[in-house]
This record gives sequence, structure tokens and C-alpha cells, in this order.
Amino acid sequence: MPKKNPLLKPYLKWAGGKRQLLPEIRKYFPKTINNLTYYEPFVGAGAVLFDLQPKKAVINDFNAELILTYRVVKDHIEELIQELKKHKDHNNEIYYYEIRSRDRDKIGFNHLNEIERASRLIFLNKTCYNGLYRVNSQGLFNVPYGKYKNPAICEEPVLRAVHLYLNSNKITILNGDFEVTAKKTNDKSFVYFDPPYHSQDKTNFTGYQADGFNDDEQIRLRDTFLYLTKKNVPCLLSNSDTPFIRELYKDKCFDIITVLAKRAINSAADGRGNVNEVLVKNWK
Ligand SMILES: C[S@@+](CC[C@H](N)C(=O)[O-])C[C@H]1O[C@@H](n2cnc3c(N)ncnc32)[C@H](O)[C@@H]1O
Repeated sequence: MPKKNPLLKPYLKWAGGKRQLLPEIRKYFPKTINNLTYYEPFVGAGAVLFDLQPKKAVINDFNAELILTYRVVKDHIEELIQELKKHKDHNNEIYYYEIRSRDRDKIGFNHLNEIERASRLIFLNKTCYNGLYRVNSQGLFNVPYGKYKNPAICEEPVLRAVHLYLNSNKITILNGDFEVTAKKTNDKSFVYFDPPYHSQDKTNFTGYQADGFNDDEQIRLRDTFLYLTKKNVPCLLSNSDTPFIRELYKDKCFDIITVLAKRAINSAADGRGNVNEVLVKNWK
């Protein structure tokens, strides 16, 4: 295994970031992982991808603005860094709301080029409250300004490390539904599913997209997992430890492992701190 690049890490803050869980997750990767193509259908900010640093991978997310940032980091790093430096120089509350409001004018937004859109998302992500990604029912970004003293708006060494990684390995970047990506796999693949967590408390934060990821979506994911299991594709999934999830994965082809995890984004005050999560795997 080539030496890992320690600079390679998420360049965004993202709900459900897996950094706390990495030591646990690593334990359950298949031993043959270096010979497999790594699939991550819910890649988010890529904490697991950048920890593993596979040479062949297929990453996907439903969030088009997020996936655009991966493509721009890959193809237009110099222009992106220039734009982020401009945002960094101008950063204050008034400027933040001005940049945030660009999606209020759909025609104007559609005229932004890819570099302007990607740098807008990175800037908003680093300066908004808690690094949340939240849009309202019209798809408009609605997180307030975070008032941070020195936000890392342009983490040049990290962005350059990601740029190098994406260009020197065989990484396919997709933007769509998890099921489409998952069904591209075969028995030479390994899939890690990190979906939006199941929440029993409907006031908890789960809304990555205006439409969220509800119980029916969790069932559709389980069915996809089952389909891949029948095709002999090794898969690992993380989710919250709730009776609903345990019921979904009770079939004997699944192994459920309980892990203790810290969850950063949780609106219920008493839900902060350690919350159990499960890892589900489908091979022995
Ligand atoms: C828990 S986050 C992933 C966290 C990530 N692995 C990390 O460590 O930063 C879940 C992701 O699923 C994405 N998502 C939601 N619904 C989806 C769908 N139907 N298909 C693919 N991705 C989806 C969200 O946009 C979000 O980025």
C-alpha cells in the first residue's frame, strides 16, 4: 500500500462527517480492499474516501452543488483558489448574505460559471452557522452567518492535495441517486454506504435536500444492499442505532456491529454527546 498523504482530508464541513468513526470503520474494511474498486454512493465531504485513498473509486452524491466542487477542485484548481482568496479578503456578514442571495435570482445564478458556483459553496460552507448545508422548499440556501473569527475559507494545501489525488488516480465522480451508482458494482467492488442517518425524532436534523431522506428511502437502501449481497458485492453501511434500522437489517445475511459515536449536528440538546451507531456488513 503506497504511503498515505496526510494532507488529504475533507475541504468542507459536512453533516455526518465520519472522522470520529474512522478507526472503527477501518477495522471492517475487507482485507482485499486494495484490489477492489471502492464505491461511495453518499460521499458527502469524503472523510472515508480521503482516509482510505483508494487508487480506483466511484464517488457519488445527490447534491449537485457539492459534486460540482469535486469537479472544480479536480479541473480548475488555480482559478478556484483565486476565487476563494477573494472571498476570504471580503468576508464579513454583509458580504456573506450578498453571496448567499445569489441563488435568489435564478437567472443570475444560472449565469455563474462553475468556478464561481463551487467557490460560493465552499465559502458559504466555511462561514455559515455550523457548516450546515440546508436549503428551503424552493431550494434556496438559508443558513445564517456563523460569525467565526478566522474561518478556513481557502485551505490551499488541502485543496491541492485533493486536486492531486483526484488527478493521479482513477476516480469517477457522479451526481445522482445512490441506487444508480450502487448498481454499477460487481464482485470486484467494495461499497461503503453512509446515508443520512435514520432519525426517530422528526425534529432532528436530517434534511440534506429539500425533500430529505425518509423511512421509505431507508427501505429502498436496504433493498439495494440486499440486491448487492445476492450479487456477492461486499458492502458496509453506517446508520444510527434505532429499532427501525435493526429491524430493516435483521436478515441473517447481515452482520450488525454496534459502535459508540459522537454526533456533531443534532438540534435536540439532550441528543448531544455519545450516540450509538451501527455498522452493517454483508460478508464474513
Ligand atoms: C451522511 S452524509 C455523508 C457523510 C460523508 N460520508 C462524510 O463523512 O462526510 C449523506 C449524504 O447523502 C446525500 N444524499 C441524500 N440523499 C441521497 C440520495 N438519494 N442519493 C445519493 N446521495 C444522497 C446527501 O447529500 C449527503 O451528502
